This record gives sequence, C-alpha cells and structure tokens, in this order.
Amino acid sequence: MTANAEKSLSADSELLAMREALQNRLDQLLPAGNERDLVGAAMREGALAPGKRIRPLLLMLAARDLGCDGSHTGLLDLACAVEMVHAASLMLDDIPSMDNALLRRGRPTVHRQFGENVAILAAVALLSRAFGVVAAAPELSGLCRAQAVAELSAAVGLQGLVQGQYQDLYEGGDARSAEAILTTNELKTSMLFGATLQMAAIAAESPSTVRQKLRCFAQDLGQAFQLLDDLADSLSGTGKDCNKDEGKSTLVAMLGAEMAQQRLREHLRSADQHLAGACHQGVATRRFMNAWFDQQLAMIG
Ligand code: IPE
Ligand code: IPE
Ligand code: MG
Ligand code: MG
Ligand code: MG
Repeated sequence: MTANAEKSLSADSELLAMREALQNRLDQLLPAGNERDLVGAAMREGALAPGKRIRPLLLMLAARDLGCDGSHTGLLDLACAVEMVHAASLMLDDIPSMDNALLRRGRPTVHRQFGENVAILAAVALLSRAFGVVAAAPELSGLCRAQAVAELSAAVGLQGLVQGQYQDLYEGGDARSAEAILTTNELKTSMLFGATLQMAAIAAESPSTVRQKLRCFAQDLGQAFQLLDDLADSLSGTGKDCNKDEGKSTLVAMLGAEMAQQRLREHLRSADQHLAGACHQGVATRRFMNAWFDQQLAMIG
C-alpha cells in the first residue's frame, strides 16, 4: 500500500468514526422513540435518516484545523445542532406547498410517512431543539454559546434560509438574472454553511480576521454545493426525486451543465484559498472538501 493510500484510508476511518459519533449523539439528543409520539418519531426520522452529514463534519474538522482540541465535547453538540437545523429545512422544503417531494435520503419524505401537519410540527420542534442544544453546549463559555445561537438564528431567519426558500418558491419559476440566482443560493445554502463555520471558529476562539475568511469560504462553498445539487437534479440514484427543478431558473438551466461545472470549480478554487488563509493549524478540512467534491463530480460525470 502506498503512503498516500494509507493516509486516505486513515482519514476515511476517522471520518467514519466522526459520522458514528454524530449519529449516536443525535440519537441521544432527540426525544426517545415512542409509538404514540408521532411528532417525536418524525423528528427522529428527519434527523437520523442517512444524510451526507457534510455540515457537522465540516464544523468538527474546521474547529480542529483552527486549533480546537478534538476532545472538546461541545463541538459534537454544536455539530448536531447544525444537522438538526438542516434536517428541519429539508422537511419543510419537501412538503406539498413547497417542493412537493416524495423521496429524501432514499426514503419516503417525512410528510409522506407522518402526514404534512406532523412534518411541519416536527420541523419546528427540531429547530427549537437545535437552539436548546447550542444554548447548553458543554465546555463553552456563556458568551460563546450566545454568539453561536446568534449565528444560527441569522442563518435560519428572514434574512437567511427562510428568505432563500421564499425567493426560490416565488421567483424561481420566472426568468432571473444570474445575480438574482446567486443571491437566492447564498441565502438558502451558503448561510447555513456560514453559521457552521462561524460556530467552529467560536469554539476555537478564532480572531475576527479568521472569521471573515471563513465567511468568504462559506459563500463559495455554498454556491459550489448548490450548483452540484442542481447538476445532480436530473440524475437517478441520489435518494431524491429526479427533475424536481424542471422549469426552474437555476444556473444549470441558464448556462448548461458544462459551464455550470466550470463555475462550480471556480467557486471551489476560491473556497480553498479562503480556507487555506483561515486555517493555519491543519489541512483536514481542505482535504475533506476537495476529496468530497472530486468524488461527487466524478459521479455526475
Ligand atoms: C440538500 O442538502 C439541500 C441543499 C442545500 C442542496 P444535502 O445534500 O446536504 O442533503 P443531505 O443532508 O445529504 O440529505
Ligand atoms: C435547497 O434546495 C433546499 C434547502 C436549503 C432546504 P433544493 O430544494 O434544491 O434542495 P433538495 O434538492 O430538495 O435537497
Ligand atoms: Mg427547494
Ligand atoms: Mg427541494
Ligand atoms: Mg435540489
């Protein structure tokens, strides 16, 4: 086995261990399963179903690259909170009055399993649980917890995910400028990556110069991520409905797949530069991000 292969193998087993730790902690933080508690069961389904866990992994890897001790127990809780917010956003995104999706993470969507009213209540409860988890995160000062709550709140709210989803629903069907599409993608996707990275920096007590570079990183990462998601929309085997974006003014529809891939790679290059400027104590986040996108781009061909 070459040194490189060995290295990537050990990196992978580390990621596997992180994924497992996330799954176990999410399980503990969510309400215990109970046949009669449908909202609790829907919360568990939304959050525990096998997602890629890219946001919580980034949070933990970035915090370490910023100098935070890997054994910091608060990191895992912050990471779980971000995943809960993300899962809530997916449950709402899928309901009939939004994207009306049937499949998510290879399973029937939460509203198909539990009904739309239960899915909405479970999403609200997951959001609320996420803020509670951040407010009580161990090994973090009161100030750090408050800052983390503020970051997450800004990412979800009217100037964040909510606004992005609104624009997507009400403007996505019309012809839009590339600028307008980028703004929507920033709100619906980059903002939560932004809060994820800020929470890593808060745990690591990074200075504002580093935090600014991480904001720039998250902007590019979110744009690259949404481009990848839009490029994969027509593919089968993603665990989601195919062609959900038909008739929608995405960058892929506007530019074509080849140009969209080119733009994606430009965002990735820029993201990598911002990340390199922010993280001086490790390269695990850069390695992970680049390897992850290489793998995904190879899959979409
Ligand atoms: C899907 O996010 C929603 C977008 C922002 C494009 P993910 O692709 O991270 O979904 P999961 O968590 O792996 O299911
Ligand atoms: C991102 O856009 C949705 C959220 C940020 C919740 P999409 O609507 O394209 O996401 P998918 O494709 O359903 O995961
Ligand atoms: Mg959507
Ligand atoms: Mg959708
Ligand atoms: Mg999509």
